[in-house]
Amino acid sequence: MSSNITWHQLSVNKEERRRRNGHGSAVLWFTGLSGSGKSTVANAVQRRLLDREVQAYVLDGDNIRHGLNQGLGFSPEDRRENIRRIGEVAKLFVDSGQFALTAFISPYREDRERVRALLDPDEFIEIFIDCPLDTCEQRDPKGLYAKVRRGEITGFTGVDAPYEAPLAPALTIQTDRCEVEEAAERVIRYLCEQELIR
Ligand code: PPS
Repeated sequence: MSSNITWHQLSVNKEERRRRNGHGSAVLWFTGLSGSGKSTVANAVQRRLLDREVQAYVLDGDNIRHGLNQGLGFSPEDRRENIRRIGEVAKLFVDSGQFALTAFISPYREDRERVRALLDPDEFIEIFIDCPLDTCEQRDPKGLYAKVRRGEITGFTGVDAPYEAPLAPALTIQTDRCEVEEAAERVIRYLCEQELIR
């Protein structure tokens, strides 16, 4: 932690932003294997939220690694730093009165729990995008599993790097058993039940 820095209390706070926006704010933390459908479902939820005039923004693994987190690889340490930074960014979105939809593999439970701890309990909504490895591999939208099997990538989540599934996610969505639109609708229903949106 740097010295000689002071936290500024600004005159507009999270509560006021939420009141003005007419809805709550939270992080929807999508976690799951590569190819499980995290980005696809997050994207469909974002569309539905915007259609309801709810402020929402998707932070996506591949995209963020092109900019903010370029230079980070896939070692456990780099993944931890990746998730730590995203957690901080997501917290800013919550503070700004919006929904952050994060689509990162985030394979380590401890890393996800560290993000949860940054937020109030009702602000971190963990959504497990549960899809068998076989199915992810059959989908292989980026041809990465094929590369893994050819030995061109090592340390790939679910193959030769761990994925620790959530123990008590707010929602589990089995993308091999339900359509994207149905998955998105379940998330919206959950947010309504929690009275985060109307
Ligand atoms: S992590 O584990 O949360 O830090 O990963 P994330 O930032 O979500 O990035 C995952 C995307 O990077 C590609 N990729 C890999 N994934 C897993 N393991 C290895 N070794 C790897 N190398 C590259 C892959 O396209 C992931 O995208 P998704 O959207 O999850 O398929």
